Amino acid sequence: MGKSDSGAADFKLVGFKNFVRVNPRSDRFRVIRFHHVEFWCTDATNAARRFSWGLGMPLVAKSDLSTGNPVHASYLCRSGDITFLFTAPYSPSISAAHPSSPASIPTFSHRACREFAAIHGLGVRAISLEVEDAEAAFAASIAHGAKAISPPVFLDGHAVVAEVHLYGDVVLRYVSYKSTDLDLSRPDSWFLPGFEPMDASSAFPADYGIRRLDHVVGNVHELGPAVSYVKKFTGFHEFAEFISADVGTLESGLNSVVLANNDETVLLPMNEPVFGTKRKSQIQTYLEHNEGPGIQHLALVSDDIFRTLREMRRRSFVGGFEFMPSPPPTYYRNLNNRAGDVLSDEQIKECEELGILVDRDDQGTLLQIFTKPVGDRPTIFIEIIQRVGCMMKDDEGKEYQKGGCGGFGKGNFSELFKSVEEYEKTLDARRVVESSTTSAL
Ligand SMILES: [Fe+2]
Repeated sequence: MGKSDSGAADFKLVGFKNFVRVNPRSDRFRVIRFHHVEFWCTDATNAARRFSWGLGMPLVAKSDLSTGNPVHASYLCRSGDITFLFTAPYSPSISAAHPSSPASIPTFSHRACREFAAIHGLGVRAISLEVEDAEAAFAASIAHGAKAISPPVFLDGHAVVAEVHLYGDVVLRYVSYKSTDLDLSRPDSWFLPGFEPMDASSAFPADYGIRRLDHVVGNVHELGPAVSYVKKFTGFHEFAEFISADVGTLESGLNSVVLANNDETVLLPMNEPVFGTKRKSQIQTYLEHNEGPGIQHLALVSDDIFRTLREMRRRSFVGGFEFMPSPPPTYYRNLNNRAGDVLSDEQIKECEELGILVDRDDQGTLLQIFTKPVGDRPTIFIEIIQRVGCMMKDDEGKEYQKGGCGGFGKGNFSELFKSVEEYEKTLDARRVVESSTTSAL
């Protein structure tokens, strides 16, 4: 499918400078929030424990053999409002021998899960949204071109789950509840029937300050068809975009569009690779290693990024997550000019110590850092962020932060490029001094 056809009628990249943000409040169904993210893997116990330890997200619930589920092993990690679900298949013949014991995740498929893990490695299968009515959300999506993955399934008269295709082998899962009065001590109430609580360790209270899922980014071959498809069936609007040329260096190797719901609390950026740059596009590298489109990164909001980073870095080489190399000192020298009015000298020093990047847009400031890919392949990674500014009041006078405050880090492409160049010049200067010293000797 070429870029010139396929939905180009309702979507065209215009670039950051020409993009005008409007919120038409065009959602096709009522979206409440991100609900959970499901990873498909071959061994859920190990994957869940690694993420729990590395991110400070306690294991809070399970559905496995011990709870009477012979179909799949599922473990839930939770911190603040974020829930990660890790699911792996049990023996298909064992589960076939217990036809009366159903899977707790009603859309689970042995074949699809096995194929997913073999093709993609560790990755995200489902982005789940809590919606007002999953049955209505599914019907509206299908009516507007979404490809059905699972029709609505009704669970114990309590919850409804349905799925549509998002991109690659990733699905958008809708979850809704019949009652608004959920029991937070019982995962079969606040999550799904069939899940039972797990005792958290009091010896190692794992909470490093991560609170909320901010955005979930997908890599696709071509933005045009992918954005048109999702926009059409969700009704989400374009919240931001930038193209390779915007960042000035042509080094980013990507074009990007962010879709958002009415409240701008569910942010779904998508990237496509750009070709002909000096270095190969990181998006193209992803697409090759992932064998197609999929989730590139999950951005998690911390309420204290310095604390979260200190805790995560302590565990980087003892089972936790490693981070991308920190920028050179020149980056932090320039940071005083860029964000000195928002961050104190001490905070800038802390950013440098922890390797945190800073960017801003016309509304607020973004502090961000990226892990290295979390699994074997150079595919999915995690971003930890804190957004500063953009505080608003709702109709009842309650304070909240506007979604996407401070942007997504576009400015860091050129800023990092500039600071690396400046840094390399200082190294060259040193080399000249060293070589002249040597020759003098
Ligand atoms: Fe991001």
